[in-house]
Amino acid sequence: MLKKRVWQILLAVLLLGSLILTACGGAAEEAAPADDAVEVFSWWTGGGEAAGLEAMIGIFNTEYPGTEFINATVAGGAGTNARAVLATRLQSGDPPDSWQGHAGQELIGTYVAGGQIEPLNDLYEAQGWLAVMPETLIPLISQDGNIYSVPVNIHRANVMWYNPAILEANGVAVPTTIDEWFTAMDTLQAAGVTPLALGEQWTQMHLMETILLGSLGADAYDGLWDGKTAWDSAEVKAALDNFAKVLTYTNSDAASLSWQDASQLVVNGDAAFNVMGDWAEGYFRELGKAPETDYGWAPVPGTVGVFQFLSDSFTLAVGAPHPAGAEAWLTVAGSKAGQEAFNPIKGSICARTDCDASLFGVYLQSAMDDWASNKVSGSLTHGVVANDSWKSEIDTALGLFMADMNVEAFQTALVAACVASGPCQ
Ligand code: GAL
Repeated sequence: MLKKRVWQILLAVLLLGSLILTACGGAAEEAAPADDAVEVFSWWTGGGEAAGLEAMIGIFNTEYPGTEFINATVAGGAGTNARAVLATRLQSGDPPDSWQGHAGQELIGTYVAGGQIEPLNDLYEAQGWLAVMPETLIPLISQDGNIYSVPVNIHRANVMWYNPAILEANGVAVPTTIDEWFTAMDTLQAAGVTPLALGEQWTQMHLMETILLGSLGADAYDGLWDGKTAWDSAEVKAALDNFAKVLTYTNSDAASLSWQDASQLVVNGDAAFNVMGDWAEGYFRELGKAPETDYGWAPVPGTVGVFQFLSDSFTLAVGAPHPAGAEAWLTVAGSKAGQEAFNPIKGSICARTDCDASLFGVYLQSAMDDWASNKVSGSLTHGVVANDSWKSEIDTALGLFMADMNVEAFQTALVAACVASGPCQ
C-alpha cells in the first residue's frame, strides 16, 4: 500500500516537472523566432542610398545585437523594380516583416486599402512619437484613427542641381522663373553644353511634376489631385507646353540612364542642370563632391517658396514572420539616433522635429529652413498625391508622349486618367 502511494507521488512529481519544462520551452520557442531576425525590404541599393540605410542598420545592430538584420533590397531608383517584386511577394503570402512605403496615397491607397499592413498606434504611444513627428505627416499615414507607418525622412523633389563653373563660364545666372530658365538653356545650348541632364522614365515623370508645379503654382498644382484644377484647362496645356519645351534641352540617351548617371553628368561637368530629389546630394557627397563648389542648388524655376515633398516610411506587415523583430526595426527607424545616423548620409532631413541640425551639411540645413517656412506640396512620382493606379495611367500616357511629343494627345490622356482613377470620376 505504502509502495503504491510512493509511486503515485513520484509520478505526480515527474508529471509536474515535465509540465514546467514544456511551459518554459514553449515560451522560449515563441519568443525566439520573433526576435532572432527581421527582414526589411527597400530599394536603397545604389549610390548614396545604400550608405544611408547601412548607417541606420548600424544603430539597429548596436541596440538589438541578438536580431539578425536581413537586408532585402531590390535595385532600381524610386522603387521601379522593387515595388513589383514586393507586390508578387504580398500576393503569394510571403511578406517581408517591414517595407519602405511613401507617406500619402501610395501607403493609404495600396497597402492600407489592401489590408496588408498593421496599425502602429501602440508603438506611437509607447515611443511618444506623436509629440515629435510633424503634424502635416500624420494624416498622410493614417486612416480611421489608425497610424500605419513610421516616417524616417522628408525629401525634397523640386530641386534643380547645377554646375556652378559651367554657369559662370557661360555668364548664366541661376534662373528662378521658367522663362529665365529657357533663356539660360538657350545660351548653354548655343555654347555646345548639354543644358539639362535627364534619366530613365521615372525621372521624366519627376521632371514633369516639378514643371507642372512651377508653371501652375502650388495652389493650382494641388488642385490637380483633389479635382479643383481641371486637367483639360488652358493652364494645364500651357504647363505641358513648358514641359515639352524643357525636354528639348535634354540629353538624347536619357532612357538608358539611371538617376545617378544623369545627376553625375552635372558634377562631372557634362551638363549644366539636373532636376532630382535631394537624394542626389547624398550621392554627390558619396562621390566626394563639395557643396557650392562642385554643385549648387535652387528650387526648380517657378517653384521658389514651395517645398514639394515626399517621405519614406516603414511598415509592419500583416502576418509578419518576425513581428517583434519588426517592432525593433520600427523603433530604431523612428528614433532620434536612427534618424540622425540615416538622414545626413541619405540626403534627407529627419521626419522627427528634434534632430540636431549641426549633424547636417549646408544643403540639408537649407532644406530644413525651407521645410519649416515654405508652402508644402506633395510629389506624384514618389507616392504622395495619387494612388498607384492613377499614377500608372499617367506613366503610360507619359511614355507615349516621350515617343510622339504630341501635347494635345498627352493632355487628353491625362484627362482620361483623372476620370478613370482620380477625383474627376
Ligand atoms: C524615392 C525615395 C527616395 C530615393 C529615390 C531614388 O522614391 O523616396 O528615398 O530612394 O526614390 O531611389
